[in-house]
Amino acid sequence: MKGVIALLLAALCFEGLNAECPDPATLKDDYGSKLCAQMFEHSSYYYDESCTGNFLYVYPDEDTPIMSWAWNNRISSLVVGRGCSLTVWSKSKKQGYKKKFSAGIVYQLKEVQKGLFGDWNDSISGYYCTC
Ligand SMILES: *[C@@H]1O[C@H](CO)[C@@H](O)[C@H](O)[C@H]1NC(C)=O
Repeated sequence: MKGVIALLLAALCFEGLNAECPDPATLKDDYGSKLCAQMFEHSSYYYDESCTGNFLYVYPDEDTPIMSWAWNNRISSLVVGRGCSLTVWSKSKKQGYKKKFSAGIVYQLKEVQKGLFGDWNDSISGYYCTC
């Protein structure tokens, strides 16, 4: 009996794994338009609680070398749509460190290395997205 419950719980937890971050294969805005990427204010060590807070929709071929004050150095997790790629810079006007993300979910930008000692949490200052 205990084993069955443990199995059930494991199944539930596994199901919940992608609960918060949207699926790269079906990434859309509120009106159903295809997105290139979606970027989120918060992240979590618990992957099913990642992709939270305010978010930014990124459309195909969007080029934003300078982010608004409100979003500069604020992104902590992101999703890149199927067949798309998102390039980000750590400084505005495509300066500083550069990183290219292909389709998929980045639950924690904190886990993505920037340079020798840094990471990409709250470090994106510009981006370009293409599909
Ligand atoms: C990301 O950076 C922000 C601001 O410094 C911080 O509040 C947050 O805890 C960081 N996230 C992680 C996962 O360390």
